[in-house]
Amino acid sequence: MHAKITALGTYVPPRVMTNADFEKIVETSDEWIISRTGIRERHVVDKGVATSDLGAEAAKRALTERGIDAQEVEAIVVATVTPDMLFPSTACLIQHKLGIKKVWGFDLSAACSAFVYALQTGAQFIQTGAHKKVLVIGADVMSSILDYSDRATCILFGDGAGAVLLEAAEDGEGIIDFEHEIDGSGACSLYMPGGGSLHPSTHETVDKKMHYVHQDGQAVFKFAVRKMADACENLLARNNVKASDIDCFIPHQANQRIIKATGDRLGLKPENVIINIERFGNTTAGTIPLAMQTAREEGKLKKGDLVLLASVGAGFTVGATLLRWTI
Ligand SMILES: CC(C)(COP(=O)(O)OP(=O)(O)OC[C@H]1O[C@@H](n2cnc3c(N)ncnc32)[C@H](O)[C@@H]1OP(=O)(O)O)[C@@H](O)C(=O)NCCC(=O)NCCS
Repeated sequence: MHAKITALGTYVPPRVMTNADFEKIVETSDEWIISRTGIRERHVVDKGVATSDLGAEAAKRALTERGIDAQEVEAIVVATVTPDMLFPSTACLIQHKLGIKKVWGFDLSAACSAFVYALQTGAQFIQTGAHKKVLVIGADVMSSILDYSDRATCILFGDGAGAVLLEAAEDGEGIIDFEHEIDGSGACSLYMPGGGSLHPSTHETVDKKMHYVHQDGQAVFKFAVRKMADACENLLARNNVKASDIDCFIPHQANQRIIKATGDRLGLKPENVIINIERFGNTTAGTIPLAMQTAREEGKLKKGDLVLLASVGAGFTVGATLLRWTI
């Protein structure tokens, strides 16, 4: 039995920060940000709004699209690197906000690959027959862990969420295969050092800015360009799928140059490569469902399409998923 996506819902907070806004707070320019990243603007939460708020709203929209009662959901997997708190899990907070009874769930930490990892995790519960309906949510409030005086990182990220509902698929439909890999040798290339068991929060960790995103941008860039394409190539070869068979490539949105380099190396048609980073920046676990929504809005994602998802993120984490779109 395969799992298939039967509904999609997304949510971004209404407030927008443009590149012009960043020109006022760090030494940067609209031209630099667009040419190096492809980003024009990103959405950010107001004070007091957290990851569970974004995730719950996206989930509500997915359930509305499917037209089912929330009580039918049997498990919730939340992909996030910015949980409301270290514990309880954001899954618990979203469950409570949605008012779903007799459900279980948990958070999954894999940074920018977390949505594809959560999708695969949710799919396993459907494939084994353990559950009939699983909510998979990718949500992040990256603005809560950004150093707005570090121009190399603060311009890259935004806040946002997306949710999909997974159910059992007919033959040949839905999620076909995946290729995942982690490589902890890259841990110090992209990380938030403070607040965990290694460096619990102290005045010193705050003074040293250890509760913010730290990144070696070039190391991440090089790894991402190489590994995103490698994972996709392995996945396609194993399934006897040619690049020309892919109707829609939906990659994690970290940098337009990474996406274009991957699309070129795989030999995908540019019109089949979904890019919406100009509107949202990198929303970490939110990018892939947000890009699914953009693909639908642009008429580039239709029922029956063969879809390739791909991501690289902190860890390092690498993921690729092949699926037949079913809504
Ligand atoms: C971050 C990133 C956009 C930087 O682009 P880059 O071309 O690698 O730029 P560099 O880091 O080499 O920096 C080049 C110069 O621009 C400067 N710079 C950095 N951020 C800047 C900004 N916002 N505005 C203007 N200049 C900036 C640097 O200080 C550096 O200046 P220097 O040459 O005087 O030292 C790019 O490395 C990247 O996207 N990496 C991957 C990040 C990513 O995907 N992260 C998430 C993974 S899921």
